[in-house]
Amino acid sequence: MGGIGPSRAVTADVPTKEMARLYRFAIEVARAAGAVIREQVGRAVDVHSKGLRDVLTEVDLAAERTIVEAIRVQYPEHDILTEETPAGERRSRYQWVIDPLDGTGNFVRGYPCFSTSVALTQDDQPIVGAVYDPMGDHLFAAHLGGGATLNGRALQVSPVEVMLDTMIGMDWARDPPTRERALHAIERLAPACGTLRVCGSAALGICYVGAGWWDAYWHLSLQPWDAAAGALIVREAGGQATDLAGQRWRLQSGPLLVSNGRLHGALIAYVSGSREAPAAGSGGPA
Ligand code: IPD
Ligand code: CA
Ligand code: CA
Repeated sequence: MGGIGPSRAVTADVPTKEMARLYRFAIEVARAAGAVIREQVGRAVDVHSKGLRDVLTEVDLAAERTIVEAIRVQYPEHDILTEETPAGERRSRYQWVIDPLDGTGNFVRGYPCFSTSVALTQDDQPIVGAVYDPMGDHLFAAHLGGGATLNGRALQVSPVEVMLDTMIGMDWARDPPTRERALHAIERLAPACGTLRVCGSAALGICYVGAGWWDAYWHLSLQPWDAAAGALIVREAGGQATDLAGQRWRLQSGPLLVSNGRLHGALIAYVSGSREAPAAGSGGPA
């Protein structure tokens, strides 16, 4: 299995002062977008369908405008990839990768589990990431080589290394065939792990692994903006972020598995199907 390992394997040629400025900026805009979203909680919002099980509100767009306008002022030379607006042509090594409101389905129901995710990539590698949960006031952040934090406090992935003790998060893809594959993964994983959780905001679920609250999180079909910031946060907290072949997670990967690193190979095997469910009650190998 190649390509996994802490983010320190990748370096950014960004001067320390500039990195600190970018990091502060990402946090600032994630918080600002979160405030825009929080103001609208409990108010009537128009909900439009974007596709199967996929909704959009004016709040997604307002949060996106908050971030994009700030980037255009501060970093006009940088590219922007954001969920609700088609990307322009690449001009820069630097690209902001943004999910203005991750967990729109939760937001429209007032279920307080949604977030704003902001990453800066250099040559398509996340070098700065901020994920903000405006209801819990949880600000997860990292920059390459600088460790990960939650509201300024250093984060470390969990030490759990026994499969039966694990708490593992996941979320659903929208399309039926991928859901079917997720069901099979659950069939293999549920008898082996401690318990499973479904979050509804992939960006937050990924950060829960960085925080050590969960030991792993997986999703069979993610977009770059769902995971760019979170993957960096997990790596900087000492964990791993890969696809289901064990290759370092990249913007275009699609499937994602993040973990504390201790059970990564076994989890890939359960989720991808190369390992079957253990016999009832055995909990299976680590
Ligand atoms: C969705 C959420 C959800 C995940 C979906 C994502 P959105 O993002 O992260 O948890 O299962 O795959 O698309 O549409 O609310 O930004
Ligand atoms: Ca999303
Ligand atoms: Ca979104």
